[in-house]
Amino acid sequence: MPDILVLAAHPQLAHSRVTRRLIDAAAALPAGRVAVRDLYASYPDYAIDVQAEQSWLQQAKMLVWLHPLHWYSMPPLLKLWLDEVFAFGWAYGPGGQALRDKDLWLATSTGGAAEAYRPDGHNRYFFDAFLPPYEQTAALCGMRWLPPLVLHGAHRASAAELDEHAATFADRLMRWPDWPEIASMEPAPECSVPGDARPGETGADAA
Ligand SMILES: Cc1cc2nc3c(=O)[nH]c(=O)nc-3n(C[C@H](O)[C@H](O)[C@H](O)COP(=O)(O)O)c2cc1C
Repeated sequence: MPDILVLAAHPQLAHSRVTRRLIDAAAALPAGRVAVRDLYASYPDYAIDVQAEQSWLQQAKMLVWLHPLHWYSMPPLLKLWLDEVFAFGWAYGPGGQALRDKDLWLATSTGGAAEAYRPDGHNRYFFDAFLPPYEQTAALCGMRWLPPLVLHGAHRASAAELDEHAATFADRLMRWPDWPEIASMEPAPECSVPGDARPGETGADAA
C-alpha cells in the first residue's frame, strides 16, 4: 500500500471536468506512489465497508480528499464515510489514535469564481471561512491539516488552466512530504476528548 491514499468523491464523475482530470493525473503517477480510490464507484449502495476503509487508512501516511465543493462542504457519500470511518475510540477520543500524525490534504474545486468568495461577492465569505470543519476534523484526530489545493471557477476553467491544475496536483503528490509549507508547520494541536464524552460508548463499539 502506498503512503498516499487519494479518496475521490464525485456523485457524477462522468460529468466532471476537474475531479476526473485530477484522478487521472494521480493514477498516472509512478506505480507505488499513490493509491487512488473512487468512493462512489466503490459504494454505489452507500454501504461502506468500515473495516476495510480503516485498514487502508492505517496503512497510509497522507489522506487526500478529492471532491467538488457541494453546498460549501463535501458530497454526501464522503460525509457518510467520515461519519462511519472516523469512529470514536478509533479516530478520536480515548484509544482513538489510528490517524495520529498522518496528513490530511483537501483538493477541491468550486463553481464560484475567486471573486465570488469575497465579502462583496455572492458567497459573502473568503473561501477559507468554509474550511474550519475540515481543519478541526483533522486536529481532533491528531492529523496535520495541509494547505488545500483549490480551483475556483471550475466551469469556466480553460483547457490550459485544467492542465496546469492537474500538473500542480501531480507535482504535489510526487513531492510530498517535501513541500516548503510543511517544513514550517507545527504538529497538529492537542485535542483530547474526555473519556465520558460519549456515555455508553466505548472504543471500537462507537460508530
Ligand atoms: C449539488 C451541488 C452543489 C454545489 N455547491 C457549490 C458550492 O457550495 N459552492 C460552489 O462554489 N460551487 C458549488 N457547486 C459547483 C461545483 O463545485 C462544481 O461544479 C465543481 O467544483 C466542478 O468540478 P467537477 O468538474 O469535478 O464536477 C455545486 C454543484 C453541485 C452539483
